[in-house]
Amino acid sequence: MAASYKELGLVNTREMFKKAMAGKYAVPAYNFNNMEQLQAIITACIESKSPVILQVSSGARKYANQILLKHMAMGALEIVKDAGSKIPVALHLDHGDTYELCVSCIESGFSSVMIDGSGKPFAENVALTKKVVEYAHKHDVTVEGELGVLAGIEDDVSHEKSHYTHPEEVQEFVKKTGVDSLAISIGTSHGAYKFKVAPGEDLPELRFDILEEVEKRLPGFSIVLHGSSSVPKEYVDLINKYGGKLEQTAGVPEDQLRKAAQSAVCKINIDTDGRLVVTAKIREVFTNSPKEFDPRKYLGPARTELVKMYKHKNEHVLGSAGKA
Ligand code: G3H
Ligand code: 13P
Ligand code: ZN
Repeated sequence: MAASYKELGLVNTREMFKKAMAGKYAVPAYNFNNMEQLQAIITACIESKSPVILQVSSGARKYANQILLKHMAMGALEIVKDAGSKIPVALHLDHGDTYELCVSCIESGFSSVMIDGSGKPFAENVALTKKVVEYAHKHDVTVEGELGVLAGIEDDVSHEKSHYTHPEEVQEFVKKTGVDSLAISIGTSHGAYKFKVAPGEDLPELRFDILEEVEKRLPGFSIVLHGSSSVPKEYVDLINKYGGKLEQTAGVPEDQLRKAAQSAVCKINIDTDGRLVVTAKIREVFTNSPKEFDPRKYLGPARTELVKMYKHKNEHVLGSAGKA
């Protein structure tokens, strides 16, 4: 083992989820790929006293370098300490697709991993997830599995066909694999184009009936929601006002996420909203100040706006503010 997450000051998600379940809120899982995103996540979670899951995809590892990402997470922990804050921080692999990737992340200090076998047949998903759990639990690292396929195409996370989680499969999956949490598919999808609706039509409700069925079959078990960005209109409008061309975007309405956070959903994944905020603010600076060429002058405003957005999620959507 190159590094134990405990020595780094990270925690796994077990205690976080237990508290979230009892307190009827969800822990935010925010993706990061660069310094400004990480700074904003940590600042927002310190200021709103929220537990946080720092989430890294395999694409993020390729983009930012796995060694650097680990040290960035360690730096974030020092900042938490320096601020006199005690918020629990987990470092989590998002959408791990192989056993080897999960092992590599655990060896480099991750406290939690997702093994996403949701695109595979049930038996293969079970076998892969079980293998990851056996390795991870030896190191007290928590594991998230997935049943059901989310729609949407986003870099490496792409599924042409989506299907909702079958509640009748969840007990067998959890029992056979030993996973600590389960991502389910109830109508969310990755990216900025989650629902197709005609003008004037309301967005469809998430399938809370499936969530309830899952809760009945797995009482007290932690559920995860992927694809949970709300795609706020204010940022889409800013992007388009300043030269962008995003059309017919749609996200998960905040009241539905609030409702989910009060249920067995203990972890809510948000990436796209951060991307929209950064793009909107950078476009705004580029348009209003075309002579600007210092990256701090456009990444800085993007970071400030990110802090605002993450605090809003913690305080008004996930309910995690004040829980750490
Ligand atoms: O669910 C996917 C996350 O938004 C990560 O996306 O693979 O483009 O880093 P990525
Ligand atoms: P969004 O694309 O809705 O932000 O979902 C992110 C996610 O599920 C990361 O795993
Ligand atoms: Zn996801």
